[in-house]
Amino acid sequence: MTGIAEPFDLGAYLRAETPRIEEALNAAVSEASDLVPVELERAIDHGVLSEGKRLRPVLCVAAYSACGGQSPRIPELAVSLELIHAYSLMHDDLPCMDDAELRRGRPTTNRVYGDEVTVRAGAALIPLAALRAWRGARAVGVSELTARAIVEELCRAAGAGGMVGGQVLDLRAEGSVLDGAALDHLHRLKTGALLTASLRIGALAAGASRAALEALDSYGRAVGLAFQIADDILDATATATSLGKNPSDADRDKTTYVGVHGLGGAVDCAQKEVARARAALHCADVGDPVLHALAQYVVERRR
Ligand code: IPE
Ligand code: IPE
Ligand code: MG
Ligand code: MG
Ligand code: MG
Repeated sequence: MTGIAEPFDLGAYLRAETPRIEEALNAAVSEASDLVPVELERAIDHGVLSEGKRLRPVLCVAAYSACGGQSPRIPELAVSLELIHAYSLMHDDLPCMDDAELRRGRPTTNRVYGDEVTVRAGAALIPLAALRAWRGARAVGVSELTARAIVEELCRAAGAGGMVGGQVLDLRAEGSVLDGAALDHLHRLKTGALLTASLRIGALAAGASRAALEALDSYGRAVGLAFQIADDILDATATATSLGKNPSDADRDKTTYVGVHGLGGAVDCAQKEVARARAALHCADVGDPVLHALAQYVVERRR
């Protein structure tokens, strides 16, 4: 528990927490810079250190604290999730995927450094993330067994049965019609798996009880789906200036929540997932105000 009094000021929490995450992320990236050629180093910096919300590490740190974790070194583990996320965005923006020009308010990595360098820079981030998860877990003080479980969790969520598998389904669905269940499955893999892993990894690092781990898993599944529903809604309703990326789902004929359920339906579904996430916390008596506030944030965000 954080001990922060209600009403909870999520903005203040994020302003306090994010610098620790940025510091750990900078350190993780400079670890790679000794190992890779300079053009890869620049592409990695561009893709990773650009202005993202850092939601995955934030969720990891929040879950860790909610489950009683005490180590101030938790950001060193949490940023492994951001390394995977950043690589997924770098690859997502390539011409063979979403062919995007803008990411986080700047030209995409491939527009600046070219496709080949971006593919390699993204690939270099995958083992870097696994190593970071292992070292971060050990820095936090968990046993080798738990550290191994944490690395497994990250690799499983990032891989073919998780994020990468979801991206394959996403590309395959371009121009076709999915039903609601198939779209939920796609969104849960593409986006939900890594968000859920962020929470589970924080909980594992804190030595959470089975009940707390299950609650955070359910919370993560709901928040993960809500997050991608909100991404689809923003793509349909917001501008490139406010998003820092170009809305493109309609142009690319993507199957999205707005396409399948309509705008109002998508908003309702997102709110239902938020309620589900918060109920999961109540169920296991995880009364953490940060996690409650983050559940609402994923659907209210403007970017
Ligand atoms: C964008 O993720 C990609 C999706 C999974 C929808 P974020 O909205 O978390 O992107 P950043 O990290 O803040 O740029
Ligand atoms: C990306 O989904 C999910 C990833 C795993 C990268 P999107 O393609 O909808 O993400 P944005 O809208 O480009 O950020
Ligand atoms: Mg995509
Ligand atoms: Mg995209
Ligand atoms: Mg999108």
